[in-house]
Amino acid sequence: MIELENISKVYRTKTIETLALDNMNLSVSQGEFLSIMGPSGCGKSTLLNIMGLIDEPTQGRIEIAGQNILNYNGKKIAKFRNEKLGFIFQSFHLINDLSVIDNVELPLLYRRMGSKERRRLAEEALVQVGLKNRMKHFPGQLSGGQKQRVAIARAIVGQPEIILADEPTGNLDSVMGNEIMEILLRLNKESKTTIVMVTHDENMARKTNRLIRLFDGNQVH
Ligand SMILES: Nc1ncnc2c1ncn2[C@@H]1O[C@H](COP(=O)(O)OP(=O)(O)OP(=O)(O)O)[C@@H](O)[C@H]1O
Ligand SMILES: [Mg+2]
Repeated sequence: MIELENISKVYRTKTIETLALDNMNLSVSQGEFLSIMGPSGCGKSTLLNIMGLIDEPTQGRIEIAGQNILNYNGKKIAKFRNEKLGFIFQSFHLINDLSVIDNVELPLLYRRMGSKERRRLAEEALVQVGLKNRMKHFPGQLSGGQKQRVAIARAIVGQPEIILADEPTGNLDSVMGNEIMEILLRLNKESKTTIVMVTHDENMARKTNRLIRLFDGNQVH
């Protein structure tokens, strides 16, 4: 489902060059739930952002769902990202001025779809995360765990094939963290969504199909 071949990422500033990923190879199969662990600064977010086409590698090849993505132009990449990928971040990234349901509908605005259909799909996604009764709330009126459930609803509303989650339970206590983990496990099992999750929590990682560890921009074997 995801093939990374000899991926390197160098960040350059005026004074310093950082090799965030060092000739990394990784393949993730369809339907797999992969977790990524490693110390702070080892390149986990960089790797996820490259898989998610948020950031470009300095070198290497990426294939997602059989498509050689780096040959795409910006517009085509944006469309591909919108249709195939869903993102979940540690700090939720919700838009505070929009209601819960409007936040969830956002990814659908980039598709040709009537407003009724958008609303129906957004409600369905909120049902899946158990938050239909908070539809009209605003993010500021929700708990951390609820905010993350809204973010998951937004990630799944477009029925992506792949979910990329960067420390999705990092800002939550263990009870809320476990709830989020249960939702991700269910999505992986029932909807066969491929999931790649960065985590600092061994207990969460143990529940997934496979764990890889990074150190200094490459996998530790
Ligand atoms: N935009 C950037 N400009 C320059 N250097 C960067 C940039 N983003 C990341 N880096 C550097 O690349 C390395 C990898 O960063 P990354 O964010 O991938 O780490 P991480 O494993 O996600 O860490 P954490 O667990 O703290 O989130 C770090 O040394 C970081 O300082
Ligand atoms: Mg990170």
